[in-house]
Amino acid sequence: MTRPFGVKKARKRKNAEPKYDREPEEDEQQPPEEPSVEIQQPTPTPSQDNDELIGIPIPPSETNTPKPNVIFILEKASLEVAKVGKNFQLLNSDEHINFLRRNNKNPANYRPDITHQALLSILDSPLNKAGRLKAVYIKTDKGVLIEVKPYVRIPRTFKRFAGVMLELLQKLSISAVGKREKLIRTIKNPVTQYLPIGSRKFGLSHSSEKLIEMYDYARTFPSDMELVFVVGAMAHGKIEPDYTDDYISISEYPLSAANCISRICGALELNWRIL
Ligand SMILES: C[S@@+](CC[C@H](N)C(=O)[O-])C[C@H]1O[C@@H](n2cnc3c(N)ncnc32)[C@H](O)[C@@H]1O
Repeated sequence: MTRPFGVKKARKRKNAEPKYDREPEEDEQQPPEEPSVEIQQPTPTPSQDNDELIGIPIPPSETNTPKPNVIFILEKASLEVAKVGKNFQLLNSDEHINFLRRNNKNPANYRPDITHQALLSILDSPLNKAGRLKAVYIKTDKGVLIEVKPYVRIPRTFKRFAGVMLELLQKLSISAVGKREKLIRTIKNPVTQYLPIGSRKFGLSHSSEKLIEMYDYARTFPSDMELVFVVGAMAHGKIEPDYTDDYISISEYPLSAANCISRICGALELNWRIL
């Protein structure tokens, strides 16, 4: 059963620094410069106990059974900050093409939008809303490891996302307004130390010779196995992590990272009856 999010709205504080406010509604006007993240906590599934009739035995509630979780790792993410003119900025091929060329860098490699879309695909998924996403880790192509909490709602526009990432890479963490908990933070390598013991780790690549149908494949997973999916967040090349157990292709076609993630989440949601 899908568990809806309970959205906690943060109170505005005059001198709070940095300011991470709620995400605006689609039609709400906001200055584009101000980055923002929002907390959204999954609310517990209503217990069957509420409907329990005295004297009538009920089967054990499904919610009491531990359920396996999923971790996504985005590898080779292009998240790099540089001083362009007077200001530090998150480099991207659209806005900084001349700067990148002047510095002998290939603009095609500067695609933070891939990470943005991949994150939206993971965090927006019913899988996450059902509370089955444990964490997201981002490894940048410069080797910085970032942890993203599953209940963060990251900005939906790229400009605001770029603002958040810029602040993260400068200050190393981002907290919600009035809270000490860090919603996005840089952490120590290697990523393997954060992965559950016994979890199965899948590397995803179109170049893998093992082409599988994701829904059928997901049906073969033991019901208590924690799953880790490693997806590339770069424009070109392939991921070659040395910590995966399996290296799979899930389509005959090269997919975007966001589409690849959406296929994985969709297959797990069907198997786990998350509607
Ligand atoms: C934009 S693609 C990277 C392009 C790269 N040429 C490649 O296919 O690996 C982003 C990521 O999506 C995943 N991906 C794309 N197509 C896939 C496929 N058919 N099967 C499995 N994973 C795929 C891979 O993890 C890939 O690194």
